[in-house]
Amino acid sequence: MKKINAVITGIGAFIPDDVLTNEELSRMVDTSDEWIMSRVGIKERRVLKEEGKGLSYMAEKALSSLLEKTKTDPSEIEVVICSTTTPDFHFPSTASIVSERCGIRNAWAFDMEAACSGFIFALETGANMITSGKYKKVVIVAGDKMTSIVDYTDRNTCPLFGDACGAVLLEPTYEDIGVKDTFLRTLGIGEPYLRMTAGGSRYPATHDTIDKRLHYIYQEGRVVFKHAVSNMTEAALEIMERNRLSPDDVDFFIPHQANIRIIEAVGLRVGIPHEKVMVNIHKYGNTSAGTIPLCLWECEKQMKKGDKLILVSFGAGFSWGSVYLKWGYDGSQV
Ligand code: UT7
Repeated sequence: MKKINAVITGIGAFIPDDVLTNEELSRMVDTSDEWIMSRVGIKERRVLKEEGKGLSYMAEKALSSLLEKTKTDPSEIEVVICSTTTPDFHFPSTASIVSERCGIRNAWAFDMEAACSGFIFALETGANMITSGKYKKVVIVAGDKMTSIVDYTDRNTCPLFGDACGAVLLEPTYEDIGVKDTFLRTLGIGEPYLRMTAGGSRYPATHDTIDKRLHYIYQEGRVVFKHAVSNMTEAALEIMERNRLSPDDVDFFIPHQANIRIIEAVGLRVGIPHEKVMVNIHKYGNTSAGTIPLCLWECEKQMKKGDKLILVSFGAGFSWGSVYLKWGYDGSQV
């Protein structure tokens, strides 16, 4: 029997129009463009400002542009996976809200959360649904409205994050393209270093949790930085080694966009020439589950069928990993 592969056959994205610059931030907290650019590499980030609009707004835009681009009738979609840390609500799932808005009514839909590794964890999940032979069209919507959980009085975290969302369509193929291999890991040692403390079942919202500003991102950046560099490097090297890929064989290296120094350190350690390393952190900051689909969307036009991509990510938990995929279509034809 021929092997079924799961291939990405289209990509959509949504980025809000409103821009928050380093100059504006330096009027809000004690920071500067010079510090943010040299320590993190972010020039500006996007913010979904309108009141009453959550992740579902961006997800709907990303998913409807994907359906339009791929000329997919919503009734054909069988599964919707929404990967995010900032859903509209605890429940119902953002996936259910977005499905309804996009006219997807013959599918089952659910949210999953793996922080900044959300896209690659969802890709593994969706790809396995396709390769099982049971499903023909699975969509992944991945992104975050990070600005909804950023404390704009905390200079340690407020320059880092932005809002965006991407969406991909996964379909089966017998061709030698698509998701070839994944290496994913979670090690729960990350809890003290990167989390949002309150608002869940352990510390539900009270006046006290609000007074203590516990509904925002808390991060011990230096610890997270070290783990990000070493784990992303290991994950990329592992997947390249076991698929016999040298840096020369890799056409696009797509890392999670958390810090330009992390991206450069990982690229250097893995030996990937910098022109193959995708970077857009200067424009959008860290959009958590949104960074990798946003990079794919931005370089779609340059990618050709059969190009070899390495995706690599790291986030809260800690959760990290890498994906080796062969791109499924000529982006210049889209
Ligand atoms: O996406 C999920 C995973 N997240 C990551 O991968 C993020 C990993 N961490 C990082 O990217 C970096 O650690 C940060 C960008 C968060 C921080 O950069 P850093 O070079 O590690 O800075 P630091 O936290 O060690 O702070 C160095 C100094 C401190 O001052 P002192 O104590 O040396 O006097 C901070 O108070 O920089 C100060 N500082 C700032 N100064 C101006 C921290 N934030 C700022 C700021 N502006 N915004």
